[in-house]
Amino acid sequence: MTTMIWRRLTAPLLLAICTLTAHASDDETSSWTYNALGEKAGIAAIVEDLLVNIANDERIVVRFADADISRLQRMLNEQFCMLSGGPCVYTGDSMRESHRGKNYTQAEFNSLVENLIHAFEANDVPLAAQNRLLGKLAPMNADIVAQ
Ligand code: HEM
Repeated sequence: MTTMIWRRLTAPLLLAICTLTAHASDDETSSWTYNALGEKAGIAAIVEDLLVNIANDERIVVRFADADISRLQRMLNEQFCMLSGGPCVYTGDSMRESHRGKNYTQAEFNSLVENLIHAFEANDVPLAAQNRLLGKLAPMNADIVAQ
């Protein structure tokens, strides 16, 4: 009898625990991503590789000819850290402001994202964490392309 009751309770109980766990991890999604990116040091390595990839990418490198690269590096570190739930505040300009008047194309945007994905891969960032950060960057498309 006790076993019967226990059996009947187990499935709903497990389901409830799973749901609770899922909610808990939803709430912690951001800091999970920050950790999976390798925290500050990991993000610094990703940004460094991203900038090297851009420098070697003839499709877009010309767009960065007049940029203050050390500022860009600092701002990208802050931005990725904050977006991934890390203990940082992004102090740079808005995406609309900093890309205004440049008329960047969708193809250029895609090239930059491709360079970022290569940087993720070079740093063994888990796919789920890559997707989480890319998911935060994707809506910026509208503020960056054709402005
Ligand atoms: C997901 C896409 C992108 C993100 C997250 C991003 C992020 C940023 C950030 C954080 C800054 C620094 C803003 C500041 O200095 O306050 C910046 C500046 C800049 N971005 Fe982007 N960007 C993206 C796409 C692009 C693309 C597609 C291009 C060109 C091909 C581009 C070219 C530049 C340049 C040249 C600057 C420097 C502006 C300056 O120093 O005056 N960005 N971007």
